[in-house]
Amino acid sequence: MERARLGVNIDHVATIRNARGGSHPEPAKAAAIAQAAGADGITIHLREDRRHIRDNDLEAVRKTVKLPINLEMATTDEMLSIALAFKPHAACLVPEKREERTTEGGLDVARLHDQVEPYVKKLRDAKIRVSLFIEPSKVQVAVAEAIGAPVVELHTGKYVELVFAGDKSGAAEELKRLREAAEHGAARGIEIHAGHGLTYDTVRPVAAIAQVKELNIGHFIMGEALFVGLEAAVKRMRQEIDAARGAA
Ligand code: PXP
Repeated sequence: MERARLGVNIDHVATIRNARGGSHPEPAKAAAIAQAAGADGITIHLREDRRHIRDNDLEAVRKTVKLPINLEMATTDEMLSIALAFKPHAACLVPEKREERTTEGGLDVARLHDQVEPYVKKLRDAKIRVSLFIEPSKVQVAVAEAIGAPVVELHTGKYVELVFAGDKSGAAEELKRLREAAEHGAARGIEIHAGHGLTYDTVRPVAAIAQVKELNIGHFIMGEALFVGLEAAVKRMRQEIDAARGAA
C-alpha cells in the first residue's frame, strides 16, 4: 500500500512556550526536528484567541523548514486574509465555536455549507489546497464535495475515545464509519486525511485505511517527546504508520 504522509502538529510546543511568555521552546525548532525525523508536513493552528500559535510563528516556521505547511483555521475573515497573505501549501478549515461543530466535533458543513463555501472558493482561487475537518459521515463528505472541497480530514477523536474507554464494539463501529466515509469520499475524487487524538496504540487501524493519504498528529507526539525526545517520538509514529500500510 502507498505510504501515508505524516503531518506533525506543533501547536503544543507553543502552549508550553506561552505558559511562561518569552520565546522558549520555539515551535519553529520543533518543526525542524520533526522534518529531520521524517515528517512530511508541519501543521499549525492559528486560533482566533492565539492560545498557542501566534502570528509571527507562521513566518518563523516557513523560514526554518522546507516541508509543506498546513494551516488550520476558522472560517473568519481575519483568518482568511492571513491565509491569503501567508499562502500556506494547505489550509484546513476547522470549527472553533461550539455552534460550528457536529456532536462529534467536526465542522458541520452539512449545516454551514453556505458559510463555508466562499472560504473554500477563495482559498482554492489562491492555489491553496483546502481541506474540511469533518466527522466521518457520508453526509458531511457529500456536502464537502458539493461545496468544492478537494480534501477532507476525517475526525478520529471519537474513535480514539472509544478505544480508551474500552468500548470495543463502539470503537469497531466508529472505525467502520471512518472506513466508509473514506471510501465514499475517495470514490468521488476527494483526497482523504485523518486526525485528532491519535496515539501509537490507535494510529494503526486508521493508517490501514487505504484511502487515507495523510495523518495529522500533534498532542500525543508532543507528550511523548517529553519522555523520549521529539525526534524519537516522530520516528516511532512514522514506523507505526508504515507498519500499518505494509500490513494492511
Ligand atoms: N487535525 C485537526 C484538523 C486538528 O484540529 C488537530 C488538533 O489541532 C489535529 C488534527 C491533531 O490532533 P492531536 O493534537 O490530538 O493529535
